[in-house]
Amino acid sequence: MTLRTASAIANPNIAFIKYWGNRDAALRLPSNGSISLTIGGLETYTSVTFDESLSSDHIAIDGQPASASASERVSLHLDRIRLVAGIETYATVESRNNFPVGAGLASSASAFAALSLAGISAAGLSLQPAELSRLARRGSGSACRSIFGGFVEWYASETDEGSYAESFAAPDYWDLQDLIVILSGEHKGVGSTQGHALADTSPLQSARVADAQRRLKECRRAILDRDFFSLASIIELDCNLMHAVMHTSTPPLMYWYPETLQIMTAVSKWREEGHEVCYTIDAGPNVHCICTSKHADTIEERLHHLPGVVKVLRAHPGDSARVVPSI
Ligand code: PMV
Repeated sequence: MTLRTASAIANPNIAFIKYWGNRDAALRLPSNGSISLTIGGLETYTSVTFDESLSSDHIAIDGQPASASASERVSLHLDRIRLVAGIETYATVESRNNFPVGAGLASSASAFAALSLAGISAAGLSLQPAELSRLARRGSGSACRSIFGGFVEWYASETDEGSYAESFAAPDYWDLQDLIVILSGEHKGVGSTQGHALADTSPLQSARVADAQRRLKECRRAILDRDFFSLASIIELDCNLMHAVMHTSTPPLMYWYPETLQIMTAVSKWREEGHEVCYTIDAGPNVHCICTSKHADTIEERLHHLPGVVKVLRAHPGDSARVVPSI
């Protein structure tokens, strides 16, 4: 009996310029390019063991057997890895997160980045980072960005070959912090895969996509110049554009809670007072408050006084996905 095993850790990421909607859903080619910050401190650890004695894949997430739909999605991704490796062996996959999954904290990004790297390594292969990013993209679009550390851009492209991510500034380039305000750890109702499919039903999506190049350029520039207030404006605009598309899709998607809006309003007020902080929100109610480290203590303290705040996770720019010893 031959066992081949490898483990990897990947961090989630928070999009500053969002991916919402696909030009090709099967290939997960996005309607627009996106920029994110990889989030250090939050981690998915995944180990993959190809085992010739198995007659199907066995998948566990956070110590529990995965649901039928999660197992199917992971097995489909293992098929992509098996195709690259030229093997047919089934695998045991064990994945653990140190943060709540499915609550808009991009757990699918770290999950499919870690699965891609652990799977490829367990199959005895090593891929160039861009190739690994393309593979991760097929599992979950935003996962292609979690292959890299620091500040990352995913190129939209019309082809499978051209659609991958790259880091354009290292984690220590700018000492930003992400204060993640948890309003609910509950699993969200509509996952992002279903959400992407609704994007084109909104009359606002074409305008959002048409203006994406300008926002990407402005976001890249603000990061490279460490220009916080410009970054804040473009991040909040991009977040509001994506949620406007969600709110005007058929059927509409509403991820916000009343408390989400209260935090957004408070953050805008604190910035007017001179604090370096802005908000962004993925497909869930939780709010990511992006701030410079010198303002983080004050902002964190204030966040705890707002209604509905269950906890605040503090994260910093994170590293690229990496192979680690199995535990
Ligand atoms: O990678 P997915 O299918 O989970 O989509 C991610 C969608 C957002 O988190 C809302 C935006 C983004 O760019 O990460």
